[in-house]
Amino acid sequence: MRDQGTSLTQYLSDGVRQGSGLEADLATLIGEIAAVCKTLSYAIRAGGLEGVLGTAGTENVQGETQQKLDVFANEAMLHSLERSEHLAGMASEEMTDIYPVSAARGRYLLIFDPLDGSSNIDVNVSVGTIFSVLRTPTAAAELSVKDFLRPGREQVCAGYALYGPSTMLVLTTGNGVDAFTLDPRVGEYILTHPRRQIPADTREFAINMSNQRFWDPPVLRYIRECLEGRQGPRGKDFNMRWVASMVAEVHRVLSRGGVFMYPYDCREPKRPGRLRLMYEANPMAMIVEQAGGVASTGYERMLDVQPTDLHQRIPVILGSRSEVVQVTSYHAETAAEVAR
Ligand code: F6P
Repeated sequence: MRDQGTSLTQYLSDGVRQGSGLEADLATLIGEIAAVCKTLSYAIRAGGLEGVLGTAGTENVQGETQQKLDVFANEAMLHSLERSEHLAGMASEEMTDIYPVSAARGRYLLIFDPLDGSSNIDVNVSVGTIFSVLRTPTAAAELSVKDFLRPGREQVCAGYALYGPSTMLVLTTGNGVDAFTLDPRVGEYILTHPRRQIPADTREFAINMSNQRFWDPPVLRYIRECLEGRQGPRGKDFNMRWVASMVAEVHRVLSRGGVFMYPYDCREPKRPGRLRLMYEANPMAMIVEQAGGVASTGYERMLDVQPTDLHQRIPVILGSRSEVVQVTSYHAETAAEVAR
C-alpha cells in the first residue's frame, strides 16, 4: 500500500513548528478554509443527486446570473468562516459590499471567489474556489473597503481548490507552492505535489479565441505568431487549450507550463478585462510567481497594481516565464510607439 503521506494538518503544524515564517493563526485559518472547500467538493460531486444544479434565478453584483451552487458556495464560505477568530472581514466576488465578521477583530482579511468557472457546473466540468489573505491593518477603528484595496504583493497567503476528477488544494504562504489531493476515503488533504515549479518554456497557450476582434495589437501579434507555428517567427508549433475555468487553466499551467490569457478587451472601456483583480488575478499571480512563473496585465506586474475598486476587472497574462516575457515585450513596444 502507498505511504499515506503528509496530511494538510501535519503540514501546517510542521510549518508553524519549524519556524518557516508560517504564523499559527494563519495556519489555523488555512485549515478552516480547506474544511469549507471539502464541504463544497462533496456538494459539487453530488451534483444532480442533491438538486444543486441549475440557476438560482438571481444576479450577482456583476450582473451575472447566479447558479444555485454559486449561492451555496458563497453562503458556505461566509457562514463557516464568520466564526473564525482570525478574521476581521471578508469580501466575495458574489457580494457588493465587504462582510465584517469579528467583534474581536482577527488579524486577517479573506477575499474569495466561492465558485470560479461556474458556467461549467451544469456540464460537469471542473470548477474551483479561489482565495487570498491579507493582514488586517491595525490603525483603522472600523473596517472599510479601503482596508481591502491593497496591491497583491501584500497577500500573505493565496490558494485555490480545484474540483476536478480529484479535488486538489493548492497553497502558497510566500514560501513556494504546495499542492494537496483530497483523499475521499479518509476526508484528508494529502501533500501529493510539493514545491511546484512552472516550466519556463512552453508550446501551449490558452485564450478565448472568439474575442479576437476585441484584442489590442500586442496580443493579436502574439497569437498570430503562435498560430503561424514552425513556419512563423516563433519557429515552433503551438497547441491551444480553453476550459473556461480559470482554476483549471492555472492548474494546468502549474502542472506542465503554458500561458493563460484573458487580455484587454475593448468592448466596454470600464471593464478592461473579464477577470477580477482581487478575487482571481491577484491570488493566481501570487501562486504563479511563487512557482517561478510570471503574471502581468501586459504592461505591469500584476502584484504591483493598486486596486481602486473591490470588483475591478483587469487584463491577465500569466504562466511560463519565456512566453509571458514575449507577450509583455510586445506590449512594451506598443507603449514605446505610442509615446513617440
Ligand atoms: O471569471 C470567470 C471565468 O469563468 C473564468 O474562470 C474563466 O477563465 C472565464 O470566466 C471564462 O470566460 P469565457 O466565458 O469567456 O470563456
